Amino acid sequence: MRGGIYLDNASTSFPKPGIIGETIELYLRDAGCSPGRSGHARARISEKLINDARQKIADILGVGDHSKIAYTHNATYALNIAIKGYLSKGNHVITTCFEHNSVLRPLEKLRRNHVIDYSVIGLNDDLEVDFTEYQKAFTTNTKLVVLNHASNVTGSILPIEKFVKVAHQHGVKVLVDLSQTAGFLDIKISEWGVDFAAFTGHKSLLGLPGTGGLYAKNERELSTFIEGGTGVNSISLVQPGYMPEKFEAGTINYTGIAVLGACATHIMNTGLNKVRKHEYELLDYLLSELALLPEVQLIGSKNIKAKVPIVSFTVENMPSNEVATMLDNEYGIMTRPGLQCAPLAHQALGTSPNGTVRVSLGYNNTYDECMALIDAVKAIIRSHNN
Ligand SMILES: Cc1ncc(COP(=O)(O)O)c(C=O)c1O
Repeated sequence: MRGGIYLDNASTSFPKPGIIGETIELYLRDAGCSPGRSGHARARISEKLINDARQKIADILGVGDHSKIAYTHNATYALNIAIKGYLSKGNHVITTCFEHNSVLRPLEKLRRNHVIDYSVIGLNDDLEVDFTEYQKAFTTNTKLVVLNHASNVTGSILPIEKFVKVAHQHGVKVLVDLSQTAGFLDIKISEWGVDFAAFTGHKSLLGLPGTGGLYAKNERELSTFIEGGTGVNSISLVQPGYMPEKFEAGTINYTGIAVLGACATHIMNTGLNKVRKHEYELLDYLLSELALLPEVQLIGSKNIKAKVPIVSFTVENMPSNEVATMLDNEYGIMTRPGLQCAPLAHQALGTSPNGTVRVSLGYNNTYDECMALIDAVKAIIRSHNN
């Protein structure tokens, strides 16, 4: 199996905690079937695992009532459910240039189908989402604001509570994309007053691909995306109207969710403060070392206190793909080049169409690995200049 230095945790976290193998085995051995459906002993064990996981995720996200979280395949599904389940003809949406395609593409599809229109808030001089422009963007038709909690290109963290306050003053609901922050930052969804939120299981929550979820403060405001069996109230031909069943039609990835519960426990046992302290020390080191290289341009806000541990950079006269390929092929260092599924962020940052080399840290990364990256970038610049 290939070793190497993994610096692509914003795509998906690696390595996964050792507890995952045990949890899969335990789930398949002791439960191994769907909760709710049958009511027998194995179904009850499964139900407990799935509900315990829901409670732990709610704790990590700062959600008061864990039943308001429905499991989905990933953040993309949850974002699509919220966007398409909430909006209707004539609505206006406010979003930001930092959104991922999992937000932009559903919005653009609705726009092209003449259902909605949307405004994209750009960046201010500090390369953060422009709050003044945001405040001015509301129209009488604005129905929803969609915000990325942290940019997967620059790492910039958005002060969600401040943005929610303004939206609520206009009577507008807010959907937050927690993909880059769940399992890393202290999130307070209920306290911040967020209306809808989407999270993914496979990044800082350390879980398996194919897991994630949707939070809805008031699920009656969303129509369903798909309908089907839920194991409850089977006599009715109508999908249950309450969380979580409303959005959990069909057999979902129970093994992955049991794993998510175990990962949430693992994260809480490690302690978010400890995780952040380590990753921010490495981020600080990387940013200060890269800043010393005249051929390297660091992209995005320099405010390390308002960033998740992501560094995006370009190297003078070299496409980001070429740099990342050399890092991988010649130094065994894995990064993510290009647009990182966030085309409008790169337009706003002036890095389109080549994008950036994105380095994203995880708890398992070390100083030695970061030093190896810096040495490799220096060597690539030297070989390019010769
Ligand atoms: C900011 C952001 N939103 C959404 C997504 C999509 O997440 P998922 O893979 O769970 O659908 C990602 C994944 O890269 C992301 O970084």
